[in-house]
Amino acid sequence: MRQTKMEVVSQKLIADRVFELVLKGDIVLEMNPGQFMQLKPRRADLLLRRPISICAIDKEAEQCTLLYRVDGEGTADFAELVSGDAMDVIAPLGNGFAPTETKLGEHALLIGGGIGVPPLYQLGKDLVAQGSTVTFVLGFNSAKDVFYEKEMGKLGDCFVATVDGTRGTQGFVTTVTDALDFAPDTVYSCGPTAMLRVVSERFANKRTFLSLEERMACGVGACYACVCQRTDDPTKSYKACDEGPVFRAGEVVI
Ligand SMILES: Cc1cc2nc3c(=O)[nH]c(=O)nc-3n(C[C@H](O)[C@H](O)[C@H](O)COP(=O)(O)OP(=O)(O)OC[C@H]3O[C@@H](n4cnc5c(N)ncnc54)[C@H](O)[C@@H]3O)c2cc1C
Ligand code: FES
Repeated sequence: MRQTKMEVVSQKLIADRVFELVLKGDIVLEMNPGQFMQLKPRRADLLLRRPISICAIDKEAEQCTLLYRVDGEGTADFAELVSGDAMDVIAPLGNGFAPTETKLGEHALLIGGGIGVPPLYQLGKDLVAQGSTVTFVLGFNSAKDVFYEKEMGKLGDCFVATVDGTRGTQGFVTTVTDALDFAPDTVYSCGPTAMLRVVSERFANKRTFLSLEERMACGVGACYACVCQRTDDPTKSYKACDEGPVFRAGEVVI
């Protein structure tokens, strides 16, 4: 993990308020799926860095892809970036998803909700490269919010659920997972807390891993803004930024 400058290669809008940002720099060589970066907004009055997951890693080209949704002033600042701009980052951060938790020939189920979908893409690529089978289930509010369905569909089956039914199955990710005709060996998930809670209940008897998108400030373990309670001892906690963001289901109270 280090602070460095990366160069903006490209940026484009891919869904409602969702941007795909490609950055270049040798820090990419240190990245693994499920890790995140702390990006510094260029506006001087925005002091805190914003945590964004690493979506795709191309070590040969020394490029990584981030997908983010414009929610507030920090992400609106990122949306102004154009090719050739410099971006100040601290990366890579956190403990990501371990593809090796899925063995050769096993079937992994990757469940993403909204802006929790991005880190599952590189994980899917690594799983396929190691000889595992992947199925994606992605949940969004509406058709206008859907992204990366085609990209993930190239790696394995990709099912989409939308709350309003304008794309794919009407309902939540669990509407789809409840109807699946196979039993996964491992489950990896990232998305809103309510979704992670249901996923961990439904797949309590599997090897299930959850990435928590807790609110963070420093992102490097120094400020305790991101603590989450341990289930084995409620008087103790983990810091999601450096001991997570990925935890085994049941390890932390969600
Ligand atoms: C480990 C991690 C990975 C993330 N990965 C992605 C990603 O790949 N793509 C993406 O679009 N977003 C991701 N997020 C959420 C992203 O960090 C926030 O949307 C962003 O910080 C909002 O900043 P803002 O200045 O635009 O909005 P603000 O004005 O700061 O806040 C706008 C909204 O974002 C929420 N928010 C603010 N900070 C955080 C935070 N640290 N974590 C969660 N919600 C927050 C607020 O509650 C509010 O609803 C991730 C968060 C974490 C912790
Ligand atoms: S965000 Fe500062 S300790 Fe985790």
